[in-house]
This record gives sequence, structure tokens and C-alpha cells, in this order.
Amino acid sequence: MMDFADKVALVTGAASGMGAATAREFSAAGARVLVVDRNADLAVQVASDISADPPLVGDVSDSSFCQQAVATAVERYGRLDILVNAAGIIVRADGPGTTDEQWQRIMNVNVNGVFYMSRAAVAVMKEQGSGAIVNFGSIWGEVGAAGVMAYCASKGAVHQITRAMALDHVKDGIRINAVCPGEVNTPMLTSERSAPVTAEMMQALADSVPMGRLAAPVEIARVVLFLSSDAASYMTGAMVNVDAGFTAR
Ligand SMILES: NC(=O)c1ccc[n+]([C@@H]2O[C@H](COP(=O)([O-])OP(=O)(O)OC[C@H]3O[C@@H](n4cnc5c(N)ncnc54)[C@H](O)[C@@H]3O)[C@@H](O)[C@H]2O)c1
Repeated sequence: MMDFADKVALVTGAASGMGAATAREFSAAGARVLVVDRNADLAVQVASDISADPPLVGDVSDSSFCQQAVATAVERYGRLDILVNAAGIIVRADGPGTTDEQWQRIMNVNVNGVFYMSRAAVAVMKEQGSGAIVNFGSIWGEVGAAGVMAYCASKGAVHQITRAMALDHVKDGIRINAVCPGEVNTPMLTSERSAPVTAEMMQALADSVPMGRLAAPVEIARVVLFLSSDAASYMTGAMVNVDAGFTAR
């Protein structure tokens, strides 16, 4: 059931972190992977590592790029079985500290990007009568956190896009779920910090997790593969926390 031979998976944000780990796991499980990211150098590297076709480089906040990304999967492989929306950014600020530009930027990428990619993918999957979409939500889309107001709002929107689209397409053979990671050791974890990242800061982050450690990206990627697979045939509209117990408290 976790065999992805002959499956076509498009992964956004596939150049780094959990998107890259997901692309690698799909490839190892036999899928044909279309790597999509705005970071050309890293995208080329990941695609080459997994012997995939050249990546598609562009910005998921651009609706026409998202149309083009889905069209490229269909042109190259004749179908699209799986869409993973992993591309995302963070802004670390409270409400009054968030500029208009930061607010618009995070909504454009984290929310509009998921909407544009999913809308384009659903059109193809509906024709096929099958498909799976996995969105990257976050524990911060379910519970609040201080100092990341716009990020929390954007992930809350991703969760609601997931639930609403799951219901809209439940009769179309399309399952739509979200994976909601806790603290994962990727470049995002240390990016946009106002103070330099220290070993003490990393330890404090690990200590804030019930298991006492950060996740490795592959620990989230494996759950993405499960949600994309026939093993998750009775799951749609679910928010799946992968957070070592963080939200269980
Ligand atoms: N790291 C964490 O602790 C954590 C926790 C919960 C959720 N998340 C979410 O998981 C997802 C993956 O994050 P990550 O931690 O692997 O981050 P990351 O920074 O390592 O990777 C994000 C990737 O998205 C790409 N990207 C960003 N904006 C883009 C755009 N407009 N168009 C195309 N590509 C774009 C980047 O180039 C990068 O390759 C994100 O949606 C993030 O919000 C991360």
C-alpha cells in the first residue's frame, strides 16, 4: 500500500527541509516526482539527487505559475496522483510588529499558494477520478503561539482550506489532509530570528517538546507518504499532528 510505483507526485517547497525529505521518500518508494520550488540551485540539487526530471522553478504565490506546474506534471507524465503543498515561509512578529508587506507576503505564499496549487490539481484529479493532496499545516494552525501572529493565521487558513476542500471533493475520489508538524530541524526553524541562533536556544526549543528533541524532516515526510497512500483510504479532512506530544498537553 505504500508502494508508489507509477504514481506521479508534485511536491512544492521540495528544495529544502520537509519538502525535500518528502521528495526523497517518494522517489525511494518508486514515485515519479516533480520538484517545485523558487530556489533554483537547491531544487536542481534535490532533483539530481533523486534522479528526477528537471525541477520547475517559480513562486507558488503566482497563480499562473501554479497552473503551469500542474500542467507540466500532466505533460510529462500524463497524470497527477499526489500534490504535496510544503512551500512556506515564516514571519516572527506579534500583531503590531507585523508590517503590511510581511502580512501580504506570508498570506500570498502560505495561503494563496496552497489555494492556487490545490485548485489546479483538483481539476486534473477530478478528471482522473482519483488523487491525494497533503498540505503542510502546523501545530500553530491549531493552537496559538507568541511572536508569530501572521504565521499562525496563515496556517489556520491552510487547515480550513484542507477541511473545506476535503468535503467539496469527497465524492470525486480525492482525499485532502494536512500534516501539522511541531518543531522540526529545518532551515525554517532558525530563520528570521532577531537574535543569533545559539546552542542554548536550540536546546530550549528541544526542551519545549515532550519527547525532548526536535524532529528530523524525514519523520514528517513518512507521515506525508502515509497520507498520500492507499493505506490512508478512509482519511480525508484530517489535521494530523506530528509533534511528539506538543499539543497533547
Ligand atoms: N520547520 C518547522 O518546525 C515547521 C513546523 C510546522 C510547519 N512547518 C511548515 O512546513 C513546511 C516546510 O517547511 P520547512 O521547515 O521544511 O522549511 P524550509 O525553509 O526548509 O523549506 C521551505 C521551502 O519552501 C520554498 N518556498 C518558500 N516560499 C516559496 C514560494 N513562494 N514558492 C515556491 N517555493 C517556496 C523554499 O525555497 C524552501 O525550499 C512549511 O509550510 C512550513 O510552514 C514547518
